[in-house]
Amino acid sequence: MYLIKKICCIGAGYVGGPTMAVFAKNCPDIEIEVVDINQIRINAWNSDDLTKLPVFEPGLPQIIKKVRGRNLNFSTNVSNSIREADMVFISVNTPIKEKGVGAGETSDLRWVESCARQISEIAEGHTIVVEKSTLPVKTAQTIKDILFSSNYQTSEKSFSVLSNPEFLSEGTAIRDLEEPDRVLIGGDDDEAIKALNDIYLNWIPQEKLIFTNLWSSELSKLTANAFLAQRISSINSISAICEVTGADIKDVSFAIGKDNRIGSKFLKSGPGFGGSCFKKDILNLVYLAKFYGLNEVAGYWRKVIEINSWQQKRIYEIVVEKLFGNLVDKKIAILGFSFKENTNDTRESPAISICRNLINEGAFLSINDEKVTEEDIEKSLKKDNFVYGFNKNEPCWEFQSNLYSAFENAHAVIILTSWDKYKAIDWERVSLSVKSPFWVFDTRSILDIKNIQDLGFNFWQLGFGNNN
Ligand code: UDX
Ligand code: UDX
Repeated sequence: MYLIKKICCIGAGYVGGPTMAVFAKNCPDIEIEVVDINQIRINAWNSDDLTKLPVFEPGLPQIIKKVRGRNLNFSTNVSNSIREADMVFISVNTPIKEKGVGAGETSDLRWVESCARQISEIAEGHTIVVEKSTLPVKTAQTIKDILFSSNYQTSEKSFSVLSNPEFLSEGTAIRDLEEPDRVLIGGDDDEAIKALNDIYLNWIPQEKLIFTNLWSSELSKLTANAFLAQRISSINSISAICEVTGADIKDVSFAIGKDNRIGSKFLKSGPGFGGSCFKKDILNLVYLAKFYGLNEVAGYWRKVIEINSWQQKRIYEIVVEKLFGNLVDKKIAILGFSFKENTNDTRESPAISICRNLINEGAFLSINDEKVTEEDIEKSLKKDNFVYGFNKNEPCWEFQSNLYSAFENAHAVIILTSWDKYKAIDWERVSLSVKSPFWVFDTRSILDIKNIQDLGFNFWQLGFGNNN
């Protein structure tokens, strides 16, 4: 029987930080250390000011306040933490490879591999290594091969490898971790499985724990994300049909969601899915299918990504068309830059491609977001309009922390993220400062059409067939 007294989690990101905070809260007898090579990130996790945590997640600061310094610590001392740990979670990033074999299709495993090498070298006694990062199927074998290679093996050192994919959704991560639909543990070492199972039993009922072999666990994670993404592409494809035929996507979603076999979740049409997982995981699935010669399967899943990109392109083209085919010298207010509400994460946000295209047409963007910082937007959008081919000695976008200032002298507004604040905009106040004619583009279907049209604004809502 393995007794778990100390846990090390490598990677203090959107997954590692919140996950370990909830572990620490529910397992006061286990000492948990989250380690990361990024000193700035660790400093932010250790900040006294809880609004400065690197991850914005509702409910997280309250938990951090309770457990940090008690049984949860954040540090850059990776080696020390691995050495002392009975269980090590790997929660480092696994972006899509940019170069070489599988570029643009499969995950770059260099960080997972370096973690495995470091664990293999440094760990002492028996260590259970748990893959938390979403990984291509069979990555656990790579980790095993490294851990069990003879170089560092001694009689006092041994390992078990488990897969325990994370299903949390950003913005609701704490609730998802506290009350998950299920917890999946993949592996073949019964004692290691029991050790992880017992940790979860501190707050999760046994019937929610599912056990499979390693490959099924890895593939289940990819498949869950692929299915969720596929629902979004499906409903988004129907949104385009609604617009040209006079139906309303909100009604269609509601009507089909009432069928228990379909269910009502993940049926909101919008500017397409973003986030660090969906696209990457489908690409991994496509790569896997192609590798095994299953070209039809690969083609099927690739379409889900294509529809997603098309939806973003389609929205930008509609904006251009409505604004008389010309965006030069026009100011557009952009409401929302995060990939969804209640997170400060911008990875793969639909706002990135839509904004780039608008800037390319010559528009000046005034961008507001509840939690994303100007610095983060700058990583995705260049400020210099020369880069976009416009010969003006002035920036092509600005960050506007004041929502109403973003509207001043604007020709249009595009809602890209459904932050609550945008649902309660004072449109009368807006009407005093914008240009006329003024367009409102609602890609998240959060506005009341009548309210807007009564003020004389032009209104376009995604998937709404009676747009003017
Ligand atoms: C990541 C993956 O993107 C996702 O596929 C997986 O499911 C979980 O882990 P996330 O936590 O959102 O998700 O990533 P990110 O916020 O980028 O955090 C990863 C952290 O790992 C970074 O802070 C990075 O500095 C750290 N890291 C990376 C290490 O500490 N060591 C390394 O060798 C590499
Ligand atoms: C997702 C999975 O939900 C989670 O289980 C997994 O662990 C990681 O990937 P996340 O990317 O954080 O989580 O957020 P999610 O709520 O799934 O939203 C993903 C994207 O889909 C967002 O851009 C969101 O706006 C979009 N979306 C979601 C829709 O457009 N319509 C919907 O109905 C739901």
